[in-house]
Amino acid sequence: MDGVTEGSFVSVLSRLGLVWSWHTPFLRISTGVPSRTRLRSALRPYLETGLPVTVQLMGLDAGRLAATAARVLDLGAVCADLNCACPSPTVLGSDSGGARLRHLDWLADTLARMREACGDRGLSVKLRVGFESPDEFPRIAEAVREGRPDVAIVHYRTVREQYRPIAGGLERLARAASALPGVTVFGSGDLFTVSDGLAMAAVPGIAGLAPARGLMRSPDLLTRLRAAVAGEPAPPPLEPCRFLLELGEEARRTHPPRGSGFLLRLAAAMFGADSERFRRLVACRTLDATLDELRRLHVSAPTNQETT
Ligand SMILES: Cc1cc2nc3c(=O)[nH]c(=O)nc-3n(C[C@H](O)[C@H](O)[C@H](O)COP(=O)(O)O)c2cc1C
Repeated sequence: MDGVTEGSFVSVLSRLGLVWSWHTPFLRISTGVPSRTRLRSALRPYLETGLPVTVQLMGLDAGRLAATAARVLDLGAVCADLNCACPSPTVLGSDSGGARLRHLDWLADTLARMREACGDRGLSVKLRVGFESPDEFPRIAEAVREGRPDVAIVHYRTVREQYRPIAGGLERLARAASALPGVTVFGSGDLFTVSDGLAMAAVPGIAGLAPARGLMRSPDLLTRLRAAVAGEPAPPPLEPCRFLLELGEEARRTHPPRGSGFLLRLAAAMFGADSERFRRLVACRTLDATLDELRRLHVSAPTNQETT
């Protein structure tokens, strides 16, 4: 997630064992192929975790995308991913991201050139089920099959649907998976709880789950989902204040001086913007004051009182 799965969020989730691979936010490839030095520095936070890293690229020029894909793999990523899903008005305004679903010859050609540049190393594509309508998916799938990616991550909305609630998302995913034989299909869309994950994992042809906003609400969602899908006992609960505290301390150590805006954004997602805990954090004027408040909240958290 652009603006979220970055910096201290990446190091803390990795350190706490809450993830087992990383998918970077999109890297825009516009005026040229980024130098190895620039790519190395962009990838450092992810590669430093020691976990497998997929690097997402977004752009229009097939040659530059293919050359960049080969370069990120040379630098240690396990997979290069092409973003054909982003619905942000700025991205669509430059005909990138989700807008690429309207250019199917381009999609087939770009994936094929990336495939050639990547050889037998990992290649994936991030899709929505259509630009205007899910009825477009059979033709999108044809273009994808020509490009031979290993993995497709399919968000069940169309680009036009942005993030609005929709009905029948899982049925759309079932149709998408059946149109992509030989491609490993991951599902995406409204994965907030373990029961959301179990329902999506049961869709025929869906081989994996790619939650996004749910990780902001529950940073331990992936470990809980993995246990539930495998039929194993749930891992011990993550105390949210302890997580935010670790995140804030990491941010202060690695990017000083930094405000508490990012912590507050996550706290709003985790506790709810109307909650007492969030109000107490918002009232703090500095990062240090926010961390002190989190320590007090952590000590008084119910999960803590049970264990002490
Ligand atoms: C803040 C934010 C940033 C995102 N950034 C990216 C991105 O860089 N690349 C991408 O493929 N998807 C991105 N997404 C989309 C998610 O990967 C996902 O497909 C979408 O949010 C639906 O999943 P969810 O309902 O579980 O959040 C982003 C979503 C959010 C909310």
